[in-house]
Amino acid sequence: MRQVASVPRTAGETYRDSILPCRFEGVVYEVGGKRPIDGLDLTLEAGPVTLLIGPNGAGKSLTLRLAHGLIAPTAGQILWQNRKLERAGRGPRRQSMVFQKPVLLRRSVAANLDYALSVHRVQGEERRQRREEALARTGLTAYARQQARTLSGGEQQRLAMARAWALKPQVLFLDEPTASLDPAATAAIEEIVRAMHAEGCKIVMTSHDLGQARRLADEVIFLNRGRVVEHTPASDFFEQPNSRAARDFLAGKLVW
Ligand SMILES: Nc1ncnc2c1ncn2[C@@H]1O[C@H](COP(=O)(O)OP(=O)(O)O)[C@@H](O)[C@H]1O
Ligand SMILES: [Mg+2]
Repeated sequence: MRQVASVPRTAGETYRDSILPCRFEGVVYEVGGKRPIDGLDLTLEAGPVTLLIGPNGAGKSLTLRLAHGLIAPTAGQILWQNRKLERAGRGPRRQSMVFQKPVLLRRSVAANLDYALSVHRVQGEERRQRREEALARTGLTAYARQQARTLSGGEQQRLAMARAWALKPQVLFLDEPTASLDPAATAAIEEIVRAMHAEGCKIVMTSHDLGQARRLADEVIFLNRGRVVEHTPASDFFEQPNSRAARDFLAGKLVW
């Protein structure tokens, strides 16, 4: 994909307001006597679509959860533009996250969007406009009044993307967003990811689907055992990975 620089997301916001880059410095996450994140150093810059790739259990989901502030490092630090970000839930949120299984309210499609917007204090005409645009951009306009939980899996995930779109985040984290979808629904999600990126949203995504990673990635961060093994342009990663672990992974061999 072509690279797009980060652009201001809301009226009055300038480039200097960007929360990126995001830097992990020696980040450790210990849980249950294990260290699934074991000294992570990485930088997420504005621009490229970043794919986090690695074997099952490598720490991809935990890395996204740490970056999004859902869990806190047990050692090391995560800096946004060289500052520690306020804890999740407080202050303006400029990042969103989409999970493999969308978490939707037992309300209509439109009400799910309205609720998310009102939590972010977007009201009135602006809320209506953002809702309608998000519905249109994700192909859900005709579903606005349907109960969200009666949507198909692919439609539910499109609604999760619409919710993210409506909030106009600077950074969108996606954890295996198409893992339970069929090829057509997957293609629809990929198209929305591309469109959000084209509007200047930084994309950080995990996928175990290497075809998808090739289609979407500008750069790859290859994780193994809770550490960064490679962080390279996507073409280098897929054509000539540096590490033995990445070569084995791409060849479909199990990496320990
Ligand atoms: N709450 C937890 N308690 C114990 N182990 C955990 C917990 N959360 C994650 N882990 C372990 O951390 C490792 C990395 O998990 P995860 O980030 O989900 O891997 P993946 O790369 O497959 O997304 C796994 O071995 C997982 O079992
Ligand atoms: Mg995972």
